[in-house]
Amino acid sequence: MHNRSMSFDLVLFGGTGDLTWRKLMPALFQAFRHGKLPVGGRIVAVARDTRSDDAYRAWLQQRFAEVEHAKRPSDDEFARFAALLHYRRMDLSQPGDYAGLKAWLDERHADTVVMYLATSPHLFPQICAQLGAVGLNGPQVRVVLEKPLGHDLASAQEINRIVRGAFDERQAFRIDHYLGKPSVQNLSALRFGNALFEPLWRRESIANIQITLAEGLGVGTRGDFYDRTGALRDMVQNHALQLLTMIAMEPPSSNDADAIRDEKLKVLKSLKPFSAESVARDVVRGQYRAGTVGGSAVPGYLEEAKVPTGSTTETFVALRTEVQSWRWAGVPFFLRTGKRLAGRHAQIVVNFRPVPHPIFPGSSRANKLVIKLQPEDGLELHLLAAKGSGQGELLSPVFLDLDFDKAFAAERVGAYERLLLEAIAGRLNLFVRSDEQEQAWRWVEPVLETWARDPNPPRPYAAGTWGPPAASAMVARDGCVWDEEQ
Ligand code: BG6
Repeated sequence: MHNRSMSFDLVLFGGTGDLTWRKLMPALFQAFRHGKLPVGGRIVAVARDTRSDDAYRAWLQQRFAEVEHAKRPSDDEFARFAALLHYRRMDLSQPGDYAGLKAWLDERHADTVVMYLATSPHLFPQICAQLGAVGLNGPQVRVVLEKPLGHDLASAQEINRIVRGAFDERQAFRIDHYLGKPSVQNLSALRFGNALFEPLWRRESIANIQITLAEGLGVGTRGDFYDRTGALRDMVQNHALQLLTMIAMEPPSSNDADAIRDEKLKVLKSLKPFSAESVARDVVRGQYRAGTVGGSAVPGYLEEAKVPTGSTTETFVALRTEVQSWRWAGVPFFLRTGKRLAGRHAQIVVNFRPVPHPIFPGSSRANKLVIKLQPEDGLELHLLAAKGSGQGELLSPVFLDLDFDKAFAAERVGAYERLLLEAIAGRLNLFVRSDEQEQAWRWVEPVLETWARDPNPPRPYAAGTWGPPAASAMVARDGCVWDEEQ
């Protein structure tokens, strides 16, 4: 616990929105509860309607009743947390309101001012430009941008152009909340804090790598947003590609944000580009139909609220790619994500090559490393061992199982808590640089374009399964199977 003193103002644009009360305020409260929020801070919610600080506090306290129990403050805790909370009414289209905000913030001259844009992304350009115009972009100011950042390369570039017009790149904190997850940070620790795997971390030893980000949930109440987005934009362009870069990157020269992000960018630039032919062969898109998840019957995507009739938006993507480098040439990287799959399950499986000359009967299985991201956070190393059953030298699979949740339970902080604290502290390591983000868009764009011309709808899959069978056929072409089919 540091709880050191550093005056900061955290301004939350979109202060009454879902993201604020569902994720950001509970995360801030946890940081406060754990003594991690630097003392001397203010949290300033900004929204359109008129209300007093106290009215905002009362509203937020009610919202907290809907937050998961362990993260809910007692009345006493809320009273102490509420002392940090302020409310400012602003019309985001009015330059005068930004000037008013500046004058109010200037009265205090906090060491750090964090502008968190938790609004609809179409307001980002306007807010950044206005903050710059009134001079709320000095060196002590940081701007945090929530995803989605654009819906294609051109729109992402346009947002970045405007952000750069007002802020230096080192002031821009682009969120990919997966980077805040302890299990994801552990990927760097696994690779660059340990010497054990590095000699094996290459094409000579690794047969293929599978990244799965499966969700049991459907699109819920976000049908309209999701329908404009789809799984490729929602999960692949950002979360899945970030994980891929962390698995495939070269060791950075230091733990400095740019040293890390330079290496991640190199991976993104080395990804095999898609063509219309390779999209048809190496990318499978699916859409869920009614089915059963966790024992409950659930409707299909087309029956979900706010989803347009006959929508062809994909709720599942599986794809095959390669990292074109000396380390990885020829190693298939399989990525897969979807809604309403068999359950919430995110993991990376590193499948090693089998022994070159097997001498034990029945020892065809190869080693694998399973990096479990959620719901569990752990590591499994699968090996073969002699059973000792006396029936010849038969081997059986065994695995070493590390449970990080158990090992570090008391110290773990949630993704948003971590990212908010990092933004306040001004550390960029866990945020996405504009060139990474644009390169990720550049890579997915041919897929979006090919689909836009494709008369075939996404392949159906029953809710509660692992997606369309075509995803299994795709990996089978490389002689592979998805992990759950092994
Ligand atoms: C978000 C997506 O970025 O990530 C959501 O917009 C998705 O559609 C969510 O459900 C998944 O995050 P997590 O942390 O629950 O795996």
